[in-house]
Amino acid sequence: MYANKAVKKWVDEMAKLTKPARIVWIDGSEEEKEGLEKEALSTGELIQLNQEKLPGCFLHRTDVNDVARVEHRTFICTRKKEDAGPTNNWMDPQEAYEKLGKLFDGSMRGRTMYVIPYLMGPVGSPFSKVGIEITDSIYVVLNMRIMTRMGRPAMEHLGDSDDFVKGLHSKANLDPENRYICHFPEDNTIWSINSGYGGNVLLGKKCFSLRIASYMGRQEGWMAEHMLILGIEDPEGNVSYIAGAFPSACGKTNLAMLIPPASQKGYKVWTVGDDIAWMRIGEDGRLWAINPEAGFFGVAPGTSMKSNPNALLTTQKNTIFTNVVLTPDNTVWWEGMGVEPPSHGIDWTGKPWTPDSGVKGAHPNSRFTAPASQCPSISPEWENPKGVPISAILFGGRRAKVAPLVYQSFDWEHGVFVGATMASETTAAATGAVGVVRRDPMAMLPFCGYNMGDYFSHWLEMGKKIPNPPKIFNVNWFRTDENGNFMWPGYGENFRVLKWILARCKGEVDAVESPIGYLPKPEDIDLTGIEDEVSRETLEELLKVDKEAWKEEHRSTGEFFEKFDRLPKEIRDQHAALAKRLGI
Ligand code: GTP
Ligand code: SPV
Ligand code: MN
Repeated sequence: MYANKAVKKWVDEMAKLTKPARIVWIDGSEEEKEGLEKEALSTGELIQLNQEKLPGCFLHRTDVNDVARVEHRTFICTRKKEDAGPTNNWMDPQEAYEKLGKLFDGSMRGRTMYVIPYLMGPVGSPFSKVGIEITDSIYVVLNMRIMTRMGRPAMEHLGDSDDFVKGLHSKANLDPENRYICHFPEDNTIWSINSGYGGNVLLGKKCFSLRIASYMGRQEGWMAEHMLILGIEDPEGNVSYIAGAFPSACGKTNLAMLIPPASQKGYKVWTVGDDIAWMRIGEDGRLWAINPEAGFFGVAPGTSMKSNPNALLTTQKNTIFTNVVLTPDNTVWWEGMGVEPPSHGIDWTGKPWTPDSGVKGAHPNSRFTAPASQCPSISPEWENPKGVPISAILFGGRRAKVAPLVYQSFDWEHGVFVGATMASETTAAATGAVGVVRRDPMAMLPFCGYNMGDYFSHWLEMGKKIPNPPKIFNVNWFRTDENGNFMWPGYGENFRVLKWILARCKGEVDAVESPIGYLPKPEDIDLTGIEDEVSRETLEELLKVDKEAWKEEHRSTGEFFEKFDRLPKEIRDQHAALAKRLGI
């Protein structure tokens, strides 16, 4: 057991509440892992996969009603309702503790309570922060072991301090009607009950590293963002870093692991992170970012040797697959894997399945949990305690229409406006309708732990404090033609857009000024090798700003902003300036 008194006191209280049969303190050792795997295999919580083909890999199936984040049951519990803001569900903290307290009362009876100390961020980094998660799920322990630095490093970082995030999770009886994911940013506390799905229960991820951390970042003058981080090495060996915020299931993992097309000789992309960035102002006046996570919790469907070989190769060992197809030779399959489906198998619900059964074998939000260190493109800098210096920030979403392939904001303040007006079609990463366009500022709508009006102010404040800020761009890989087909090939070909972005950062290429920002001249997007796939006409279409569509966009963003009573003046002014440029 660990000696830290504050941890022990809190664990005692939570044990009194949840009444487990026993308490296990997790240290992160190899023997501990093997013991937990054995136990999970014996209860069916995990299924062992073919150890020759997929050594150290397991399959897990969640409850059929528990397959994604539940945004309508996710709450920010601040003392004042206004502090949660118009975009979050709010519950009074007292009421939430009482309501969930009743559900947690005895919820671990007859079960083991695991106490998981974990570190978000590299060992020895001033960015890094400690959380303790209490859970009654072995699946959670084994996932946290991949996604965070778990056990000893966390307790050593904490020492005898009481500065840790308290996370309490119980599967209870997985009752969807009593499922709650509650955040208490004023108490550094997270309570999650009645779910066993990743984003709801791996409390170091969205709950801590975005919702609680965004609140901390505002207080302490740094940023916690839903962003990938990648490095681009040029043929001379210089590496520049880019961070990018796209909503869930909109391409962060894919972009972070991109392999440049064959025509782009001498370039290489390095992966630093695929989902979350914590960013601080460095001594040199630039913005520096770390990836607080140690693994990838990635979307399986669509991951193939063609679309994302680095992701597929990362998952060949020591990986937990959730809600994919189990094949007759005990390996895994999903839609868009790029290999023939098995003639029969077991689908994500645990039922016999064949390719012509008319239903998907893997859930659209099925996932892999894999160690970042196994990624062939992992950056040599990914665990640098200082982080990496960011040259460009990208915002982007799934927009069939309106948003061009890429454009650059005029400056930081306009860039914040571009981020604040982001929209994207909803995906299977959260429960609810898929394919509906919704506003999702900075891809943080479901993840901001406080009033989003204040969040915009924080972005504007940071801009004033960063002497040498990253340039801000918007990208859209998802424009479709009149037949609904993607107009841009995407994936590795997105490198061509990144190259233009870097050239802009270095002042090496001109741009065309438009009402919404700076656009590339078509000839400045290098199409070498894909001229057959993307004609000059298509590229021009991809870069077009349709004024009428943008007038409608302006109206709709104005309507969105009406919700906010803490909208910064700068955002209002930017909205007015856009109207003027559009001739409204
Ligand atoms: P989260 O883990 O939910 O935050 O998702 P993510 O943003 O990391 O998205 P990911 O890279 O896993 O991609 C989600 C889906 O989008 C997958 O099915 C991909 O195949 C698809 N996708 C990714 N990049 C592209 C692209 O450039 N073009 C197209 N058409 N699809 C893409
Ligand atoms: C997302 O939904 O943005 C994810 C997966 O990265 S989850 O961990 O479920 O949040
Ligand atoms: Mn994500």
